[in-house]
Amino acid sequence: MDMSRRALLKVIVLGDIGVGKTSLMNQYVYKKFSQQYKSTIGADFVTKELQIDDKLVTLQIWDTAGQERFQSLGSAFYRGADCCVLVYDVNIQKSFETLNNWHEEFVKQAADPADPGAFPFILFGNKIDVDGGSSRVVSEKKAREWCASRGDIPYFETSAKEGYNVHEAFLCVAKMALEGE
Ligand code: GTP
Ligand code: MG
Repeated sequence: MDMSRRALLKVIVLGDIGVGKTSLMNQYVYKKFSQQYKSTIGADFVTKELQIDDKLVTLQIWDTAGQERFQSLGSAFYRGADCCVLVYDVNIQKSFETLNNWHEEFVKQAADPADPGAFPFILFGNKIDVDGGSSRVVSEKKAREWCASRGDIPYFETSAKEGYNVHEAFLCVAKMALEGE
């Protein structure tokens, strides 16, 4: 195969403990969901191949631990990233507020400090299925305002449990990563 039609893209998923980072990846790659909570330790990746126009794209999606201190992964880990997925839980205010820290730290470690606005971020507001949406505390409007204030970050509301919007969101990830490559 013509190698120019292939792309290996590195994606890093960040966000607070328990927001559903691992579940989103498992839903996207394996179409599986588990209610059981098994906290991620360290960092590991899964791969997913998809076709975008005439390109065969391999997404290398890195899952990280929400509880881990960011610094412990080190800047080498973030080097070469093509896209950063930020995840929060729409039912937990703190997971939304912490986005500032995740975003800032990623920019510090990986993005071009001269032009942080140029790095492709994307935001997922996860667990929109919980209690049929009645326990949500962060509105879509608030989330979109935050995205606008960070240089028009694309936003997707997702449910890893129901598979809602998961493919659409990761397709956007792949397209953004491919563009910036
Ligand atoms: P850490 O690895 O500790 O950082 O957590 P995480 O962000 O990987 O969260 P994880 O995917 O392990 O999910 C935490 C818990 O939330 C698990 O019990 C999941 O079953 C549940 N969960 C994840 N996504 C959803 C969702 O969209 N809806 C519902 N109802 N539960 C979810
Ligand atoms: Mg996890």
